[in-house]
Amino acid sequence: KKSQKNYNLLTRLAFGAGRTLTESFRLAQMEAVVLMLEEHECEWVEALGKDLHKPRFETVLCEVTPVKNEAVHAMNNLKKWMQPQPVERNLSTTLDECRVVHEPVGVVFIRGSWCSPVQMCLVPLLGAIAAGNCAILSPSEWAAHTAELLHRLVPFYLDNECFHVILEGVNDLPEVFELKFDHIFFAGKQNRLGISAAHTLTPVTLIIGGKNPCYVDRECDIGTTAQRLVWARFHNAGQSLVAPGYVLCHAQVKARLVQAMKSCLIHFYGSDPRESKSFGRLINLEVFNRVKDLLWRSGKVAVGGQVVEAEKYIAPTILTEVTESDLIMHQEVFGPVLPILTVNDVDEAITFINKQEKALCVYAYSTNTKVRPIIFETSSGSFCSNDSILQSLMVTLPFGGVGASGMGSFHGRYSFDAFSHRKSCLLRSARLECVTYLRYPPYEDHNLSLIAWASTHSQRSRGWCQIM
Ligand SMILES: *[C@@H]1O[C@H](CO)[C@@H](O)[C@H](O)[C@H]1NC(C)=O
Ligand SMILES: *[C@@H]1O[C@H](CO)[C@@H](O)[C@H](O)[C@H]1NC(C)=O
Ligand SMILES: *[C@@H]1O[C@H](CO)[C@@H](O)[C@H](O)[C@H]1NC(C)=O
Repeated sequence: KKSQKNYNLLTRLAFGAGRTLTESFRLAQMEAVVLMLEEHECEWVEALGKDLHKPRFETVLCEVTPVKNEAVHAMNNLKKWMQPQPVERNLSTTLDECRVVHEPVGVVFIRGSWCSPVQMCLVPLLGAIAAGNCAILSPSEWAAHTAELLHRLVPFYLDNECFHVILEGVNDLPEVFELKFDHIFFAGKQNRLGISAAHTLTPVTLIIGGKNPCYVDRECDIGTTAQRLVWARFHNAGQSLVAPGYVLCHAQVKARLVQAMKSCLIHFYGSDPRESKSFGRLINLEVFNRVKDLLWRSGKVAVGGQVVEAEKYIAPTILTEVTESDLIMHQEVFGPVLPILTVNDVDEAITFINKQEKALCVYAYSTNTKVRPIIFETSSGSFCSNDSILQSLMVTLPFGGVGASGMGSFHGRYSFDAFSHRKSCLLRSARLECVTYLRYPPYEDHNLSLIAWASTHSQRSRGWCQIM
């Protein structure tokens, strides 16, 4: 337990030494993250297989590749991101240099999630590195094999003083709550960490999640919609922050949609998904029991419903006749269960969505553009039409929640910004005292109007010269 405090001290000293500030250091560390994934791909696949029964395909597609993409994107753009950004000046600052300088915040604490244990640890880590910080990683102890692999490999690849992986669960480490970090990143509902961050006034990026609504319009390609929805909801056995949480569709489409999803499930996972090499398991009994409870206490099972406790297996399940008051509509599912509710049109869907807490993602499937108002008339962390999840994997789009689904965002440039302080810098010239002079006493109204004129007259020319 004492070691935790030492890590923090060591990391802070390492940051103070300034090593993380250079572009070359940041590039080398990001490169090392990529190497750590590439040279041990089999081990990552094995660890995620043990933790979540995650198929190799999903590990490569949803865990390893997104991290590599982030790294490549950050390495290609780092130089540009690190440049001070000039801002507009006006007449009274015309000889000065006005710019925004990004400075690293210091030591970042990253608490991973258990459902995407590699991606949700290493993507924020890349952001912390790109921005020039040191970091302490705390992978979720629920995904124990992945956490151990991170603990074992990170010291081989990354700078030993600047980056540490701690294995003790956050809840076993009361000291974590007393330590002052410069930024805390975490995913999932980790109330104690949030309260502690508030208590110590530590800035946070919180990806909380929620129930993601998915509207399926009367006019849509049912076959394609079913495939995209089924993949999005049931990959990783439903354990995803960005999976569609429930479907809102017209009563006339419901039967066809359920039928299409049913054939799709057989196509994807065979007639018994338990035998399928492409279908995962729940992380532990706690999650298993919670999902089983939701399943049994809500709506009617239209497809699936089988559970095998010894394997932490829950079949891909579709529920119909679900009402707003059902338990499943009041909890994030985090399992392979998809409730379907009916609405009459897109306006009713918008009203329904707006009655719920703000979600991380809103999805809409439709072959017409009538559903576009959903973008402007509902609020959520992200929106995607005609597909699900993909918007959260784009390095050029910020990913994060709003309201109950989180605060702050990351990925690409947005990660760099999340872990940087934007310092305003005005480098004044000692000249043009004849203008400055106007602000000194004795005050005269005449001079006041002159200052006002000089201060509002905006000058388009952008200055760019030596700084620091
Ligand atoms: C969904 O895709 C179809 C076909 O490409 C397109 O016509 C439609 O506008 C898309 N819907 C939305 C909401 O973007
Ligand atoms: C204010 O303006 C007047 C005339 O424009 C000038 O003579 C005077 O010195 C100014 N006062 C200050 C403090 O600059
Ligand atoms: C112009 O410069 C003055 C003094 O430097 C400042 O107070 C004012 O806010 C500036 N105006 C704009 C539009 O930035």
